[in-house]
Amino acid sequence: MTRGAVEAHGYTAGICEQSRWCCYARRVADTKRALVVGAGTMGSGYARLFGSGRVPGVELVGVVDLMEERAQAVAGPASAASFTNLLDALKETAPDFAYVATPDALHRSPVETLANAGVAVLVEKPLATTVEDAEAMTRVAAQTGIHAEVNYANRWNPPFAEAKRFIDRGEAGEVRSFNVRLNNPLSTPETNLGWSASTTPAWFLMSHCLDLAHWLGGQRAKTVYATAGYGVLSELGISTPDWVHAVVRYEDGSDGVFESLWILPDSWPGVLEFDFRVTGTRGRLDIDTTRQSLAVTSSRHEYPTTLNWAQQRITSFLRAMDGYERTVVRFEDALEVTRILVALHRSLDSGAVEPVGG
Ligand SMILES: NC(=O)c1ccc[n+]([C@@H]2O[C@H](COP(=O)([O-])OP(=O)(O)OC[C@H]3O[C@@H](n4cnc5c(N)ncnc54)[C@H](O)[C@@H]3O)[C@@H](O)[C@H]2O)c1
Repeated sequence: MTRGAVEAHGYTAGICEQSRWCCYARRVADTKRALVVGAGTMGSGYARLFGSGRVPGVELVGVVDLMEERAQAVAGPASAASFTNLLDALKETAPDFAYVATPDALHRSPVETLANAGVAVLVEKPLATTVEDAEAMTRVAAQTGIHAEVNYANRWNPPFAEAKRFIDRGEAGEVRSFNVRLNNPLSTPETNLGWSASTTPAWFLMSHCLDLAHWLGGQRAKTVYATAGYGVLSELGISTPDWVHAVVRYEDGSDGVFESLWILPDSWPGVLEFDFRVTGTRGRLDIDTTRQSLAVTSSRHEYPTTLNWAQQRITSFLRAMDGYERTVVRFEDALEVTRILVALHRSLDSGAVEPVGG
């Protein structure tokens, strides 16, 4: 941010009377101005985090949503400004970065606008639901030189972060096989997600698993074969699969079996079921975050969420903006996941093994 922009945005109360610019510079270097785009479930959660003071070096300056009352409701508690138009928000808040949490298929337009304004971007997964959109975003990020990442945040989920270290030390040998399931109770597509009919459990859930497999195994996908089941959700008027199963073969001959389903009964004791098994030539990792290391039984049996890593993920993004971080989720990584998922949905239609391409 320039000195002019700093002065225009309220950094006039210098702590040091003799050299106010010194104070401005220190404050700018320490604190990044955050804009949240999309004030739904994810956007409101991250806005609360930015406004809470729990992540040093970040300040929530604005919230954008097409629905004015949502933007206001999320911005208000943090004394941030609310907007229904991204260009107005950029002009008035001069953010250093934006967190984009619009629905799966609606990431491209805000990302392009932000990149062209020179604003760093952390966009939710999946990057896009078409290869064309994912490529366009990857291109604009490269051309504008902004710092751009996708929020495949499970890379900061502690068991996965440790698994990565274990694999990188060579203790598992060569990674050969993934066996993964990531599932939600029915209430996720039925009540929590207003646009579940315009996405699938593969885009919403399996995208995480495919990113983790790509990150841990380091391989590009060659082919994918997928099947899906329908019935429970379509009877509720939600036209999307109840589940998707996929087999992904990677270029080095390793492969993975992935399941994502959206019809766990609502009596399920947590918000997800997540089992991730990796087998290598010399080692094996079994990750089970389903039980969250805590079971509570009172009027019902529950696994309350104990594994929270959003803070580390954001800290890592802020450090990466300054060039100090090793774990980053580049748009190119997320483009690879989108390519696999596009081929996967093609396989659902064709009933054949589909090349991933790219
Ligand atoms: N990283 C994770 O673990 C994780 C978890 C859940 C969801 N997600 C992803 O986060 C994204 C958002 O999901 P959600 O559950 O918060 O959805 P949501 O429906 O709760 O919120 C989306 C919000 O975006 C707003 N919106 C739509 N188009 C907009 C635009 N052009 N400009 C500004 N606002 C706009 C909508 O009005 C809505 O308030 C999705 O891509 C989803 O897959 C990620």
